[in-house]
Amino acid sequence: MKNGAGQSVSLWMSADVPASPPLTTGVHADVCIVGAGIGGLTTAYGLMQEGQSVVVLDDGQPGSGMTQRTTAHLSNEIDDGYVAIERLHGESGARLAAQSHTSAIDWIEATAARHSIECDFARVDGYLFSPPDEPDDVIGKEWQAARRAGLTGVERLDRLPGNMFHTGPCLRFPRQAQFHPMKYLSGLVRAIQRGGGRVFSGAHVTSVESGKQARLETSQGCLITADAVVVATNSPINNMVTIHTKQAAYITYVIGATVPVGSIEPALYWDTLDPYHYVRVQRRSLKQGGEQDVLIVGGEDHKAGQADDGEARYARLEAWARERFPMMETVEYRWSGQVMESVDGLAFIGRNPGDADNIYIATGDSGMGMTHGTIAGMLITDLIRRRESSWASLYDPSRQPVLAAGTFVRESLNVVAQYADWTTGGDVKAESDISHGSGAILRSGLKKIAAYRDEQGELHKCSAVCPHLNCIVAWNHTEKTWDCPCHGSRFDSFGKVLNGPATDDLSPIQVE
Ligand SMILES: Cc1cc2nc3c(=O)[nH]c(=O)nc-3n(C[C@H](O)[C@H](O)[C@H](O)COP(=O)(O)OP(=O)(O)OC[C@H]3O[C@@H](n4cnc5c(N)ncnc54)[C@H](O)[C@@H]3O)c2cc1C
Ligand code: FES
Repeated sequence: MKNGAGQSVSLWMSADVPASPPLTTGVHADVCIVGAGIGGLTTAYGLMQEGQSVVVLDDGQPGSGMTQRTTAHLSNEIDDGYVAIERLHGESGARLAAQSHTSAIDWIEATAARHSIECDFARVDGYLFSPPDEPDDVIGKEWQAARRAGLTGVERLDRLPGNMFHTGPCLRFPRQAQFHPMKYLSGLVRAIQRGGGRVFSGAHVTSVESGKQARLETSQGCLITADAVVVATNSPINNMVTIHTKQAAYITYVIGATVPVGSIEPALYWDTLDPYHYVRVQRRSLKQGGEQDVLIVGGEDHKAGQADDGEARYARLEAWARERFPMMETVEYRWSGQVMESVDGLAFIGRNPGDADNIYIATGDSGMGMTHGTIAGMLITDLIRRRESSWASLYDPSRQPVLAAGTFVRESLNVVAQYADWTTGGDVKAESDISHGSGAILRSGLKKIAAYRDEQGELHKCSAVCPHLNCIVAWNHTEKTWDCPCHGSRFDSFGKVLNGPATDDLSPIQVE
């Protein structure tokens, strides 16, 4: 299976995903959905339930993007917090945000039940806790804002309950949930296929043209026509500029360690640091019989392509976790992935700005792509069926994030600063400095070259210029990928595109 973000392997990747055939000819459907992650498949399922013919295209297998790298917390406590969401979207916006994420969790629960999808869905509490010495009353303010947003039953506690490690005050959010994302996704694929929906893998979409009949092309030369198109590729591949000025790509890291069964209360845990730590537990069956719990701890985020110290970040995560969870045994998993942080904390879901009104996008997950992806399924189904939705303007991709001007300017200046890479030297002086299994940027006159030496010692060279908007990519040692520091396009060691917005590979350079 295509591994959408490098070589690391997550806890979820061993799930049995139903086969989907490669696309070899042109097809037509009422709606064509690009991207078979949670966003695309939820949308396909929603439309299919309403009698629309749907075709889903993915350049890998279903789930091979970020959905197989998530940690699958299902929460209505938004990552940025309701204090920020209320400041950026007003009290009524915060209420709609709370309502939509609550509905998304209910929707997942109901859909899993309707189709008997065994995806380990479980209702759990969520705890937002501050470190013992946090000065501000962050927790108190968030409590008030969450209540104003309409969340019921949220409690303020002096510390994490039970025999958990020492913390400052915390909030308990009832009726959050967790699940196995790939088992759930597999269930959705089966439900879509049973209902007559067509899901194709190995279909790399290179262009999306609007018009009465929208037209899509794949790099394999297939032409797809549809009355409407939904681009759910995590980072849109059809909107080259507008959306990418309003969101930024961050890499986030996860470790998974075995712990004795039942030694940690199953719940979602998040601290108030920036970047924050996120924690949960997943039970799994062992081949030899019996069960085991895996403690999943994430954090250590940084802007994509702007740091290459993944090993140190995993080590810090492990140290943080061992201090708080002394029952931790072996670290069996270490993986990373990319989240698209919108400047105002909420996803962009709806009509693609600048296109005719039959092209839709879902992006800007803001670390909440399980619920945002599900909201996308519900909201885009309403929009395509021409129904009013009270969520439409909150998530409208055309919205101007005026109240997030500070973040917008900071992120824009950060992107501009990346173009200085054109003027700097290479990472190494000579090709011979690149060790086996590693990559580095070389300078050759005015050109910058992304050079990868494979395990056998052969050198592979590509242009280091990202085909999206010409930033210079950077080597990521832990995933063995080339990551673009501007808008998060990613490429494998040989320059093959893994993640948009770029749709083309890095240009190959002949090795003499
Ligand atoms: C480490 C980590 C932890 C996270 N934890 C949480 C969490 O606890 N809770 C939460 O809600 N969210 C979390 N998220 C975010 C969430 O996982 C993602 O936002 C979500 O999975 C994105 O789903 P998607 O459908 O938008 O995109 P994806 O799952 O990435 O799917 C997009 C699909 O599009 C395909 N594609 C891309 N380009 C093309 C093309 N040109 N042609 C055809 N197909 C293409 C890809 O192959 C991919 O399968 C986390 C993310 C990470 C990385
Ligand atoms: S992702 Fe935009 S320039 Fe590379």
